[in-house]
Amino acid sequence: MNYITLNNGQKIPQLGFGVYQISNEETEKAVYNAIVAGYRLIDTAISYGNEVEVGRGIARAIDDGIVIREDLFITTKLFVNNVVNQETAAEAIKESRIKLGLGYIDLVLLHQPYGDTFGAWRALVAAQRDEQVKSIGISNFDSAQMIEFIRINDMNVTPQVNQIEINPWNQRKEDLAWHEKYHVQAEAWAPFAEGRHELFTNPSLIEIAEKHKKSVGQVVLRWLMQRGVVALAKSTKPERMRENLDIFDFSLDDNDMNKIAELDKEESAFFDHHDPEMVEWFMDRIDHTQPRLKGW
Ligand SMILES: NC(=O)c1ccc[n+]([C@@H]2O[C@H](COP(=O)([O-])OP(=O)(O)OC[C@H]3O[C@@H](n4cnc5c(N)ncnc54)[C@H](OP(=O)(O)O)[C@@H]3O)[C@@H](O)[C@H]2O)c1
Repeated sequence: MNYITLNNGQKIPQLGFGVYQISNEETEKAVYNAIVAGYRLIDTAISYGNEVEVGRGIARAIDDGIVIREDLFITTKLFVNNVVNQETAAEAIKESRIKLGLGYIDLVLLHQPYGDTFGAWRALVAAQRDEQVKSIGISNFDSAQMIEFIRINDMNVTPQVNQIEINPWNQRKEDLAWHEKYHVQAEAWAPFAEGRHELFTNPSLIEIAEKHKKSVGQVVLRWLMQRGVVALAKSTKPERMRENLDIFDFSLDDNDMNKIAELDKEESAFFDHHDPEMVEWFMDRIDHTQPRLKGW
């Protein structure tokens, strides 16, 4: 496993395991199997509703002697209804620690660029100073929002990570340059675009995969590794968990990298975070009379 050093000195595994859309029934086993397979970074979120089960999977792996807590890098994210103000954010961090069963969380992110992100950031910085959380960051901030956030926040703490969609259809070339300039580590969600636009049967990706005797999934993850991005891959199947980890014994050459660069559609395979209807949808998740509690 490769590790990358964040702007606060903490080391993050470059390849991680995501648990979005894994059912509550399956999550404990998936997390346990992922740790057995060799993943050390587990990515969850309050909105996934499976922090308790993630915590159980981790506890089982530690009980069985597969890892110790310090080997693991656990991430969660505050949803918009936790980012109403500093207090809702502080409370959510505490609740996540309880649900995950962890004394500290390795990385807590603001999941969306909405709400009182500056107030919530104060709560994250305070939790980091109290050592409840080791690293703090943002997610789904575009580069302009990220720069504003870094330059104006009164806590003077630059996010360690920005977790954004990066995959062959949405390669974020310019965004990666801005992340590098501001020393914010880019982390890719949906590296496979959840298979959209027939990613796993794309002829160019298949050609590169056959050349290296690897799978399309492995080529995509290797491409992210070579671009200096941290990637989160999700699979509930142990054989795919192992396959996705087996990417450190080959390299893509310039020709391969250029071929993949040609696939860029420069747009999300999912939705635009600036679309007013989507912003409305996110705002509907907040109940201002009970800021923490609605539905998630
Ligand atoms: N910050 C955010 O807003 C945000 C948004 C989305 C996701 N995320 C994070 O990023 C993680 C990854 O993204 P994602 O889960 O949306 O999508 P993804 O990792 O791009 O794709 C997952 C899909 O690919 C399949 N798959 C995995 N490995 C494969 C392989 N080697 N060959 C063929 N199919 C394969 C999986 O199926 P099986 O499970 O059946 O194998 C699943 O259907 C999430 O789990 C979550 O932690 C964050």
